Amino acid sequence: MSYCKGTFIVLIVITVSLITLQSWYLSRWWPILGNEQAQLVQSWGKGEAKERNDITSKKVEKNKAKEGSARAVLQTDDDTIENLAVILNKKLSDFPSEKGGPTKKLCDRAKSGSAPCVNTTCPARFSSSPETRLKQILSTRNESLHSFKSAMAEVTRDVSASNKYVLVSAASANHYHEMQAMVKDVHTHLFPRLTNFTFIIFDLGLSPLQRNLTEKNCGCTVLDFPFDKLPAFFSILRCYTWKPMIIRSLIEKTEFLVWMDSSVRWNRTAKSLDSLFQRCKERGLQMWFGSVGSVAVRTQHDMFSFYGDQPCQYDPFGELHASYGVYHNEPFVRYAVLDPWLSCAFTRRCMCQQNAKRSCSGKLVPRRTGVCHRFDQSSLGIILIKLYGGRMKLINMNTQMEVRRRDKAEWFTK
Ligand SMILES: *[C@@H]1O[C@H](CO)[C@@H](O)[C@H](O)[C@H]1NC(C)=O
Ligand SMILES: *[C@@H]1O[C@H](CO)[C@@H](O)[C@H](O)[C@H]1NC(C)=O
Ligand SMILES: *[C@@H]1O[C@H](CO)[C@@H](O)[C@H](O)[C@H]1NC(C)=O
Ligand SMILES: *[C@@H]1O[C@H](CO)[C@@H](O)[C@H](O)[C@H]1NC(C)=O
Ligand SMILES: *[C@@H]1O[C@H](CO)[C@@H](O)[C@H](O)[C@H]1NC(C)=O
Repeated sequence: MSYCKGTFIVLIVITVSLITLQSWYLSRWWPILGNEQAQLVQSWGKGEAKERNDITSKKVEKNKAKEGSARAVLQTDDDTIENLAVILNKKLSDFPSEKGGPTKKLCDRAKSGSAPCVNTTCPARFSSSPETRLKQILSTRNESLHSFKSAMAEVTRDVSASNKYVLVSAASANHYHEMQAMVKDVHTHLFPRLTNFTFIIFDLGLSPLQRNLTEKNCGCTVLDFPFDKLPAFFSILRCYTWKPMIIRSLIEKTEFLVWMDSSVRWNRTAKSLDSLFQRCKERGLQMWFGSVGSVAVRTQHDMFSFYGDQPCQYDPFGELHASYGVYHNEPFVRYAVLDPWLSCAFTRRCMCQQNAKRSCSGKLVPRRTGVCHRFDQSSLGIILIKLYGGRMKLINMNTQMEVRRRDKAEWFTK
């Protein structure tokens, strides 16, 4: 009898320890989750999870039908919160094993520089509800966006909307030789592998001769950027407000938009193009996360307050590289990702603050947030981290392109 009682007590102790360990692990492992979500995850049996997925996919079927008919008339009304939330939930539940995101390493104010780390005393947390996070992002959309979109529609009106892929870049006079090297790389690695595409380069201030030689050699269409129709600060090129403007406008013309800065090289990515586009279609977009710098360190505080967040929430997340990315033309990407991104571009204190410092160099001891700013890149990072609930692996490319700043060429012929 006492033997039995002993075993019973040992079993109880083991069970209690396991439960405690599991909830500790869940809340520790994903700092974005409050305890509330950790409990939620625990309380989900397999049956319940399956049922949720069934409901989600039924809704998606219904919305797909709606989307099909809406597409036919081109004007859509699928930017409702309800519709976008269904799509977001589906994207999150379709790849349950791809959870990877923020680091688990704890911050040490005395030691660390700009690397991502978990700030255990951060008073703010992300909501565990995708709908709530989606609503927060959508609430930053600027209504005056519509009046400016027409400027870009005018610029891109002659771009045919019949291509599956749009490859797009932009260059100013001081990036002319870098851009030539990029064009050469695109001709070598993308042109032979893609069909049904068009290549566009925006002129952000090339000299007349540079423009002439680009048009002659690039195998692309060179378009003007409508600076005169946009707020004056769009001319401050280092704020990169032009990038969300170009991407948001051009995505209407294609199925996949491939953005590349003039420093981007494809020579080790071109092999896996099919899987890159397949992933993009399923997940909405493909970016590259995994920079050595934390979003919290490399983003000005004003931008976090624009999003209603505190910098320390973003401590564990590495920046994304906005130098390249593949965007799928679908309502979720247009309305929940690109419109909010462009809205930030239109709000000076969000993307283009007067005193924003690009350089993060120098000793960062003690560790602090808001040291420098990454403009377009900071903003897109915040939007995606929030929407995808920190599961950056979901939208991370399975391959990395090369960014070779100052890799130049004299490739265009006179
Ligand atoms: C964590 O965030 C809080 C609030 O912003 C800040 O006061 C504290 O210094 C941060 N801790 C570390 C280790 O960075
Ligand atoms: C090119 O792609 C578009 C959009 O995906 C498609 O509608 C069109 O039929 C394709 N054209 C050719 C020639 O394959
Ligand atoms: C470039 O300039 C040359 C000489 O002025 C001219 O003949 C040619 O048509 C121009 N090419 C383009 C694409 O504008
Ligand atoms: C890609 O091209 C650059 C030159 O533009 C070269 O230095 C680099 O080694 C190449 N990378 C690979 C993986 O081939
Ligand atoms: C919306 O964009 C306009 C144009 O740039 C800007 O003046 C305005 O402040 C923005 N509104 C908000 C709420 O950010």
